[in-house]
Amino acid sequence: MHRHPDLDPSTSQEDPIEYSLRPQRLQEYIGQIKVKARLDIALQAAAKRGDVLDHVLLFGPPGLGKTTLAHVLANEMGAPCKVIQAPALEKKGDLAAILTNLEAGEFLFIDEIHRLSAPIEEMLYSAMEDRKLDILIGQGPSAQTLKVDLRPFTLVGATTRAGLISKPLHDRFGMVHRLEFYTRAELAIIAGRSAELLGIHLATEGAEAIARRSRGTPRICNRLLRRCRDYAEVKGDGTITMASAEACLKLHEVDDLGLDSLDREYLQAICHKHRGGPVGLRTLAAALGEDEGALEDLVEPYLMQVGFLDRTPQGRKATDAAYAYLGVASDPGPLFR
Ligand SMILES: Nc1ncnc2c1ncn2[C@@H]1O[C@H](COP(=O)(O)OP(=O)(O)OP(=O)(O)O)[C@@H](O)[C@H]1O
Ligand SMILES: [Mg+2]
Repeated sequence: MHRHPDLDPSTSQEDPIEYSLRPQRLQEYIGQIKVKARLDIALQAAAKRGDVLDHVLLFGPPGLGKTTLAHVLANEMGAPCKVIQAPALEKKGDLAAILTNLEAGEFLFIDEIHRLSAPIEEMLYSAMEDRKLDILIGQGPSAQTLKVDLRPFTLVGATTRAGLISKPLHDRFGMVHRLEFYTRAELAIIAGRSAELLGIHLATEGAEAIARRSRGTPRICNRLLRRCRDYAEVKGDGTITMASAEACLKLHEVDDLGLDSLDREYLQAICHKHRGGPVGLRTLAAALGEDEGALEDLVEPYLMQVGFLDRTPQGRKATDAAYAYLGVASDPGPLFR
């Protein structure tokens, strides 16, 4: 069971429309009020001192705006930003080349930073802390370590799994920010902003209908907006109204809470097959034919957010609210025990 690509918040790579919708400045970046306030101070202080911004670690579920925020920070500092995906860094030499080529003040954005290999991660420690790189030249007894000074830079790391970041790496970030799911009001603003940029006619109630089904996630909000535009153009006069948005999202099997068929199957697997749990992630992944990581990133965070799921040391447990949502009694009765 896989999600329809439009509903899958993980499939972001190189989507030109998504790119065009990215806010460029902190002021355009909707929501995340606390994170923005803290970053705003740090940005102003760094600018005032003529210093670089401290290294920043951003974490939170896919599609909440980590990559967008990394670019916003570089823009605010008027600095270029180099982007790399952690798994693409295979050799120490790759990282050394990138670091030694950074201009003064440049940003280095490492996405999926929990996936760095151990030797590369260790190399980052001294680069982040002392702006120094130890490069080993030659082999065997004649090998020499060369100490290279790096120009001041800001590392922005992003991850969906804060739990997988080692303590030494975590501790070298001056700031660690957790992005939260967005409120409906914030998502309605995001839908309105995107509609304006894309020239879509979106009624206020249409924006609200999309916002409440976006699972707290701007990326999903922007995707649903595009589906609703198609629907309104084909079935209506082109304006997304509440009725057309609701009809469209029903067609795509997104329910009133924004949950889709994978979310429902996940809850059904716990409630029906495992009597509410606790059940291990691996068992659930096998039952659904899904990857464990995908469930952890794309399904569980929002189900916890809406109070349908508890993660306990024994495994995943469905809450009474989950049973109420699925429309079955939480107590299976003595016959089933
Ligand atoms: N605060 C925001 N205000 C307006 N739009 C936003 C905001 N955050 C994200 N978006 C929109 O959502 C889309 C997805 O954001 P982004 O790619 O930054 O998420 P991400 O956290 O990096 O996701 P992933 O974990 O998959 O890399 C962006 O294209 C952007 O248009
Ligand atoms: Mg990203």
